Amino acid sequence: MRELEDIRQDIARCDAELIRLLEKRMDYIQELTACKKASGRPLLGQKNRHRKGPSAAGLSGRRYKEECRRIADSILWAEKKVQARTLCPGNIALIGFMGAGKSSVSHFLRDMLAMEEIETDELIVAAEGMPIADIFAERGEAYFRRIESQIISSLRDKKGAVISCGGGVVMREENVRSLKASSRIVLLTASPETILSRVKDSTKRPILNGNMNVDYITDLMEKRRSSYQAAADIKVATDGKSVAQICEELLAKL
Ligand code: S3P
Repeated sequence: MRELEDIRQDIARCDAELIRLLEKRMDYIQELTACKKASGRPLLGQKNRHRKGPSAAGLSGRRYKEECRRIADSILWAEKKVQARTLCPGNIALIGFMGAGKSSVSHFLRDMLAMEEIETDELIVAAEGMPIADIFAERGEAYFRRIESQIISSLRDKKGAVISCGGGVVMREENVRSLKASSRIVLLTASPETILSRVKDSTKRPILNGNMNVDYITDLMEKRRSSYQAAADIKVATDGKSVAQICEELLAKL
């Protein structure tokens, strides 16, 4: 039987080699991402086409198949993180009118790039312990906007997150200033008709309750247009596009 110290040294050598290889793998991922971006290739691929990562090397017949699969999953998670950081070192803040697709896009980026997902409305609901519609009804819109600004300001030190902002966030300049400090601001747009088709069955948006029609949406959109445009670093039109297409376009423009 070998001496314990000998075995320990072998394990330490393995660990050093693993770390060296992992580091190298991350460098390649970074290089691949930059290369894809420079040549205009898709950066994410299809949501349902599962990335295989190191499992692609083949695990069947391996002695530690299950353990290796778990490690491969972690490497895949790290790969997504590195890819996200290569594309955007700070945060991605999504702005746009209600129904522009902010939540769908943030879910997709969370899944495909392992980004932390933050929905400002969700943070407000959690802080106040009641749905948005009740906050508007019981405490008023001005109160909601104050809380919204506090939440936005509390996100200043975040990194690597996708921040899905409520549709009215850009109406206060202080919010835009806070977001700009740590995020690329991405404006998602859609026609009033598309917006209506996306929001018509929801009762969660107090501003639209009782106003579910193209004229009202067109009018409010027009009032907000200059604030959205002024805040945006990047703009992506969403009409007729899949979430995957919108995200590819967004990342290519970052
Ligand atoms: C609002 C948009 C909503 C929510 C609130 C007010 C707005 O968020 O913050 O109902 O003024 O545009 P979504 O844009 O996510 O629907």
